[in-house]
Amino acid sequence: MAKIIDGKQIAQDLRSELKEQVAKLSSEGKTVALAVILVGENPASQVYVRNKKKACEEVGIQSLSYELPEETTQEELLELIEKLNHQSGCNGILVQLPLPRHIDEDAVIAAIDPKKDVDGFHPVNVGKLSIGQPGFVSCTPAGIIQLLKRSDVAMDGKRAVIIGRSNIVGKPMSLLLLRENATVTVAHSHTADLPALCREADILVVAIGRAKFVTKEFVKEGAVVIDVGMDRDENGKLCGDVDFESVEPVASAITPVPGGVGPMTIAMLLCNCVQSLERMEM
Ligand code: GUN
Repeated sequence: MAKIIDGKQIAQDLRSELKEQVAKLSSEGKTVALAVILVGENPASQVYVRNKKKACEEVGIQSLSYELPEETTQEELLELIEKLNHQSGCNGILVQLPLPRHIDEDAVIAAIDPKKDVDGFHPVNVGKLSIGQPGFVSCTPAGIIQLLKRSDVAMDGKRAVIIGRSNIVGKPMSLLLLRENATVTVAHSHTADLPALCREADILVVAIGRAKFVTKEFVKEGAVVIDVGMDRDENGKLCGDVDFESVEPVASAITPVPGGVGPMTIAMLLCNCVQSLERMEM
């Protein structure tokens, strides 16, 4: 029987801690404010943005909302970012992805002041992570490190395997686990004999976006399994990249979907917003 890592509870604990920090800053006359930019009407993005704004409100972070029409030009978006870069009352800028096809995402990310890039997507922040300098770290992998630490999972000297090499999850996850002194392997669609490689892992992080792909054949007895997936099963029910029923009896600890990694992503975004203000004060 695996221990179920309760991301919902851990995220709630984090939000409570942040609420205290924000209140203390507020008593010193300092307001934490996040600009949230949504372009177009992607329904999933609308839900994410609503949840981000709600979480800001809960901890006392001001959210500055920019909901722009689908036809917004790249130039108009870049102008808004430039304005927010210089706006002293704004500590964080988040542009919800994906953007409409006529807008170059890389150009938009590059336009955000790295000091306000609370998503941790700017090349400067990615570079800082890779050489071990302080900067903003992508929220999902940062949240996974918090989940592991707060569940007393040792990383030092452990063998970690990550399935998935995205810029937002897989790659930064590998650098963060390396920073914790794990021995890290990044697997992907071209990896030979994936199940055998995964069975070497003490910590297995799965971020591939394929419903219930990882079964017990991928998991060593006693491994810790982190499921980043947000998929739908054959009945349309929300599920992860890990076949929970199959893997749970083999693992020593596992994150559920929903209620595992998901809630941590937004909690880490709030954390980055508070950090942004604190760094600006230094
Ligand atoms: N779209 C999906 N995930 C994310 C995220 O973490 N940040 C932003 N800005 N857009 C996303």
